[in-house]
Amino acid sequence: MEKLYKKLLSGNKKWVAKKMEEDPTFFKKLAKGQQPPVLWIGCSDSRVPANEITGTMSGEIFVHRNIANMVIHTDTNLLSVLDFAVNILHVKHVIVCGHYHCGGIAAAMSKNNFGGIIDNWLRSIKDVYRLHQEELDAIEDLDLRDRRLTELNVVEQVYNLCKTSIIQSAWEEHGRPHVHGWAYDVSNGIIKDLNLTVRDNSEMSHIYKIEKAATKKVVAKKKK
Ligand code: CO
Repeated sequence: MEKLYKKLLSGNKKWVAKKMEEDPTFFKKLAKGQQPPVLWIGCSDSRVPANEITGTMSGEIFVHRNIANMVIHTDTNLLSVLDFAVNILHVKHVIVCGHYHCGGIAAAMSKNNFGGIIDNWLRSIKDVYRLHQEELDAIEDLDLRDRRLTELNVVEQVYNLCKTSIIQSAWEEHGRPHVHGWAYDVSNGIIKDLNLTVRDNSEMSHIYKIEKAATKKVVAKKKK
């Protein structure tokens, strides 16, 4: 046990030496601050490290990870990361990256009771299944069904992001960020672009639209 723990620290020393060899100013530059153009919302899975699989470095991607890359509207952790990324860092892109062979997706498709708070988290993935039940139930091959739920879950989490006042206000005021959905395949390393990019609320259901002009009308009516 101790050996594994020490290996991480010696790994860090080696990494620092390598980085310094490549660019002696690397850490000095990072210490000045960050301006990453991308917010990444991914799964906590150890096989899906945002920087490594996109060939990017420290300082290039702002990251939030949780089990099965969920966007849950009462998650103050996620909302704080989103607010900071959009309103302070001014990111241009927000990417939800799910992945095939996701334990969270598989668990949500099962009747397993893990006996803790995780069961409640998985319930939100089951809600995605219910939304697309007809399509998913029709897929007989369970691996393919699992893969499709991974993709549909990404789609729903992209829309969940777009439903937030944080994203809609940024669209209205700055015309950014663009919100994208990806699925990463841990079995070959390839990221599949789900070709879902949302740039404004024009294609959103009217139910979820939030607009400043509409708000002003409500306030004016109350004053009368
Ligand atoms: Co996962």
